[in-house]
Amino acid sequence: MSYELSAIISIGLEKYVVNEFNLKKDQYFKDLPIKAKVFKGGVGFYFDDPFCFHLIQVLRSPTKFFLKIAEFKCRDLPKLFNKLTKVPWENYIYSKSIKVTSTASKSRLINTKKIEETASKALEKWLSANPRKKLPLTDFTKDQIIHLSLIEDLLTLRINCSGEPNFKRNLRHTQGIAPLRENYAYILLSILTNNLKDLNNKTELIDPMCGSGTFLSEALNFFGFIKGRDFSYQYFYALKGLKPLVENSSHLKKIYFCGVEKNKYLESFHQKNFLNSPEIKFIYNDFFLLKRSNFSSEKQILICNLPYGKRIKVNEDINSFYEKFIKHVFNEFKDCSAGVLLPTIFAKKLKLKQLASFKNGGLNVSFCQVNPGFNTNATGVRD
Ligand SMILES: C[S@@+](CC[C@H](N)C(=O)[O-])C[C@H]1O[C@@H](n2cnc3c(N)ncnc32)[C@H](O)[C@@H]1O
Repeated sequence: MSYELSAIISIGLEKYVVNEFNLKKDQYFKDLPIKAKVFKGGVGFYFDDPFCFHLIQVLRSPTKFFLKIAEFKCRDLPKLFNKLTKVPWENYIYSKSIKVTSTASKSRLINTKKIEETASKALEKWLSANPRKKLPLTDFTKDQIIHLSLIEDLLTLRINCSGEPNFKRNLRHTQGIAPLRENYAYILLSILTNNLKDLNNKTELIDPMCGSGTFLSEALNFFGFIKGRDFSYQYFYALKGLKPLVENSSHLKKIYFCGVEKNKYLESFHQKNFLNSPEIKFIYNDFFLLKRSNFSSEKQILICNLPYGKRIKVNEDINSFYEKFIKHVFNEFKDCSAGVLLPTIFAKKLKLKQLASFKNGGLNVSFCQVNPGFNTNATGVRD
């Protein structure tokens, strides 16, 4: 059987999902043929061996995954209802709580509300004829999402394979304010450090405004698959008996990391979240008061999600705050790589070189190179 699995990511970041796939395919899927094809807002993965469903757990950069389960021509609601009651749902549906979403373009059926109502009724009919067995469901897998996409009368039916979005790693017991989504943190790290290749035992990775430490946790788990949570596909009847993933520790790397945070109250969060990582140092101070000599390595790589001035307030005009940051990094860390995430509007005002741009919570943001003395090729992608 052939499968088509779609990894969803913000528009503009698709190539980083392919980059991650290329980086990890031999580590986890050696000798298993998988084709990757970019589309707007995601990457399609095509394979025959069901073991490749573990891409969902291995890839840290996508937001979520969908599996294509059917495709047929459809021009009216009765046909839609009829067709949907005949889908082999037993292969995928394990929950009674099913949400239907839809999109339609250039098709005869255009009213998405009616499409969704019809699909929900078809599913209800199917469910009443096929009562689900009780499964040990967790919070992660309670709701299942079915997505119908109609383009020129061709209906494609997809099912969510993640459950909760993939950026929910379940690693952190507590969070700071405005934490960065883990999948974005992973992508920005891969860009700045060339997939961690630029880090060695003489280089320290610094997050000068680390909050809950998302960059830190992603760097620590860069090559490991996502553990400590469930994914929807693990409950699909069609994948019963799937061999589990095995950790391959040969790629693991020791990261020297320092998080700076001026809010001391985050100390107890860090103690809980990074309990097993004694090589990590935290400094609870104002970054602007720190000198190069406060850090232990010869060389530093700085990565930072700067406050945007909305949820995380700063005591001055936000533009002056950014200018102060850039000046401080330039003065103290002149020969180091430094990448910052900030609203695109300020990236343009400050004439920073933008390495990647995307929408974060509805806001256009850019990951920018700060130092003119920046010294890596900083693409994270080998073409
Ligand atoms: C946008 S949040 C960072 C979120 C972080 N990336 C995460 O995922 O949790 C910015 C953080 O910078 C801290 N901060 C602001 N100004 C600072 C300064 N001058 N020195 C050190 N930390 C600062 C804030 O307390 C806040 O936790």
